[in-house]
Amino acid sequence: MKKLILALVCAVMMGTMNAETLVAYFSATGTTKAAAEKLAKQHHARLWEIEPAEHYTAADLDWRNPNSRSSVEMNDPDERPMIKQCTDVTPYDTVYIGFPIWWGICPRIINSWLDNNEPQLQGKVLIPFATSGSSGIEEAEAYLKQTYPSLNWQKGLLLNKR
Ligand SMILES: Cc1cc2nc3c(=O)[nH]c(=O)nc-3n(C[C@H](O)[C@H](O)[C@H](O)COP(=O)(O)O)c2cc1C
Repeated sequence: MKKLILALVCAVMMGTMNAETLVAYFSATGTTKAAAEKLAKQHHARLWEIEPAEHYTAADLDWRNPNSRSSVEMNDPDERPMIKQCTDVTPYDTVYIGFPIWWGICPRIINSWLDNNEPQLQGKVLIPFATSGSSGIEEAEAYLKQTYPSLNWQKGLLLNKR
């Protein structure tokens, strides 16, 4: 009987431990969303979409146009696009943060999210992940470490389909 109770307690604890991982992501056209869903499934993690208050249209995403919304945002390091809804990161020990690579790094909405949550993210394990056309994640990792040096960044994952 004792063994059974111990096994049940362990199973509940394992369940709780798994629930303490969050996969938060921004995706403009669905590629990072698919990668985030897969990652959350693998880690039995909670999934959270970082949604912009204003959706990005195809014209907004035109990197060839210097006046498109994404170009204007990426040209200004202080741009912080508004997010639709706040995330409560307090229950999680490990947080995966996903995004498409824009101009070699993360879109500014990731800065908005990190700025909003920086105090609550202290001491948590943070793992960036990204999808891209061809770029690696290294420049984004270096940028995040430099911009948020107090956070506990781990090695990033590039989750492009091969
Ligand atoms: C504004 C913009 C800038 C981009 N910059 C890069 C880049 O620097 N390097 C790269 O490999 N891909 C770049 N891409 C391609 C995206 O990273 C890639 O298509 C990504 O998988 C899209 O993810 P999503 O569908 O989740 O938005 C860019 C795309 C956009 C819209």
